Amino acid sequence: MDSNNQLVGWSGERRLFFGVAPPAPQRDALQRLLLQLSAPFVPVLASNLHLTLRFLGQVGFSQAMALCQQLDELVAEAPSTLAAFAVRLDAIECWSGPKVLCLSGDLQDPALVALDQRLDQLALAHGLAPRQHPLRPHITLARHARSLPTLQVTPVAFSANEFHLYHSESTADGVRYRVLATWPLSDGQEPVRHCYSK
Ligand code: 2AM
Repeated sequence: MDSNNQLVGWSGERRLFFGVAPPAPQRDALQRLLLQLSAPFVPVLASNLHLTLRFLGQVGFSQAMALCQQLDELVAEAPSTLAAFAVRLDAIECWSGPKVLCLSGDLQDPALVALDQRLDQLALAHGLAPRQHPLRPHITLARHARSLPTLQVTPVAFSANEFHLYHSESTADGVRYRVLATWPLSDGQEPVRHCYSK
């Protein structure tokens, strides 16, 4: 199945980004952290928990199609260039610029470094804006954060074996991050021949 065939066209531009969804056990651990937060922190929706890989900004449909097609080709022809990676997030930080509270970690796994570079090259090759910051692996927990709360934090570590193209969609209930397409990350065991979409 080809991921592009699953993208339903849109007019104008959509706010898109590549990212990873934490697996269920880690999502549960993150949800337990969200439950410890109170005003003025505004916890993110549990269903929105994600680790951003490459923020793309406003993207037209044909641009998104071209990006997806190139990723489909990479997965089919050179799967090892998109390899599974591990991440460990163990620091609670309050970022004063965007006023977010996040759980962050270091960019350590060479597979994540390589994926980050590949996605950045792809974005630039398709005319998207240069990134504003180097990748700092993190999961945003809350907005309107101006200080560090007292939290019982245990590190969250997981392996990512797939990544998504997300649409940051404004809805009546607030912003939702909807998965538009998904690609596997190779575990180096056997060739991956297909990607798939949701
Ligand atoms: P974050 O919480 O992981 O930082 C959709 O807008 C998502 O993209 C946001 O939740 C934010 O994810 C990330 N994002 C927004 N603007 C960004 C930017 N300029 N650079 C990197 N990531 C950004």
